[in-house]
Amino acid sequence: MKRTLKAIPLMLVVLMLTVVISACGNSSKVEVGIVLPTKDEQRWIQDEQRFTDALKDAKHSSEILFSQGSSAKEKENVDALIAKGIKVLIICPQDGDAAAAAIESAKKAGIKVISYDRLITNTDAVDYYVTFDSIAVGKAQAQYLVDHAKGNGQPLYLYAGAATDNNAFLFFEGAWSVLQPKIADGTFKIANSSEAVALQGTAKLAREEQSKIISQVTTSWEPSEAKNKAQTHLTAASADLKGDVAILAPNDGTARAIADVFASDKAVTSYVVTGQDAEKASVQYIIDGKQSMTVFKDVRTLVKDSITMALALLDDKTPETTGINNNGKKDVPAKQTDVIVVDKENVQSALIDSDYYKADDFKSK
Ligand code: BGC
Repeated sequence: MKRTLKAIPLMLVVLMLTVVISACGNSSKVEVGIVLPTKDEQRWIQDEQRFTDALKDAKHSSEILFSQGSSAKEKENVDALIAKGIKVLIICPQDGDAAAAAIESAKKAGIKVISYDRLITNTDAVDYYVTFDSIAVGKAQAQYLVDHAKGNGQPLYLYAGAATDNNAFLFFEGAWSVLQPKIADGTFKIANSSEAVALQGTAKLAREEQSKIISQVTTSWEPSEAKNKAQTHLTAASADLKGDVAILAPNDGTARAIADVFASDKAVTSYVVTGQDAEKASVQYIIDGKQSMTVFKDVRTLVKDSITMALALLDDKTPETTGINNNGKKDVPAKQTDVIVVDKENVQSALIDSDYYKADDFKSK
């Protein structure tokens, strides 16, 4: 009996020490948390790789987590990083509105939040935004279609990104600003969206109008949805909506899926299809003549800018920005990067000679 009583306090002390030691242990301490949307797209694997390369020798500890297409998982990731004591969160939201809850918890914990590539919307918890010029992405895609248009009344198939992603609106806005005059002058004829046809006389669309078109032609950023929609559209299309066609595809993953469908339709004589991200698989498609172009967004720059911003914040300095983006709740100071159009003509110089990819990543045709 005596021995047991003595043993209990000793065990308690050991237990308390273990708790204290593990709480103070540096092993789980992280200063910069990075949350990316999904591992299922090459685009975000590129970002992970570039972050890992850039942070290899950094004196600050960091951790990258993936949300796997789920806002709930994203919130769990952010909570886990908050628990690890991060000071700065770099986050690319799965869903711009839904991510607000996650970053509001971070803000409450005194963490600075950098929205990465996609803007987190309708919350004042975003401190900064690091992004590419997304309007320019859409414009570049559309301009490519205009520059490669054949004759008059060419069928134009429109596809968009996920309606939960603010970028999908910016890409579409940029594209529409270039395409609409060319629809109005008869160069193109919209082939697959009654909503776009109803609005084809409107040069500048309000957000709700964009929303109507995007909801109709969204791919949700899913190649499978893009493929299903393209199949449905081609099945419904009359002969005058085939022949030589132009296709606005919002990114590489969806472009490849859509291109495969159009390539397998015998009544489609030729197609020009856009993309974005310079994913390796799409670079191969461009080399093989199966995808017309991509918009190269040099992820190294985006990663560098967000790390520079995070380091400034860790030092209590105000990071450099180049403009603002309104997220529905506040003007978010932003740093924006330009994009580059890549097609068969410049794929070598833009992506290989620039050391973005290695020549032996690809098979020449
Ligand atoms: C990004 C694109 C990407 C798309 C799908 C957008 O927000 O800017 O680069 O292709 O999401 O993940």
